[in-house]
Amino acid sequence: ASITFIDSSGEERVVDGKDGQTVMEVAVINDVPGIDADCGGACACATCHVYVDEAWREAVGGPAPMEEDMLDFAYDVRPNSRLSCQIKISPALDGLRVTTPERQG
Ligand code: FES
Repeated sequence: ASITFIDSSGEERVVDGKDGQTVMEVAVINDVPGIDADCGGACACATCHVYVDEAWREAVGGPAPMEEDMLDFAYDVRPNSRLSCQIKISPALDGLRVTTPERQG
């Protein structure tokens, strides 16, 4: 599935993710800047915070309660905030667009 990462300055990077990988893993593997992922995907750091493009919010869905608690520690949280280690790639998310925040934490 193709995933587009947009940084806070508007620069886009299109990368390819495999089904079952998380959006965070795809970012790290492809050296996408703006995702720190300090905890390695355990939903315990909130430094993999992204904003889900409005058009994709329904397909991606909202955060689970544990993720929601962790999002409290993220910087500049918005209604479309998600932790990218908690978004699993599937064919339904082919073309997904997410924006990385100005900074993590
Ligand atoms: Fe730590 Fe996502 S990588 S919460």
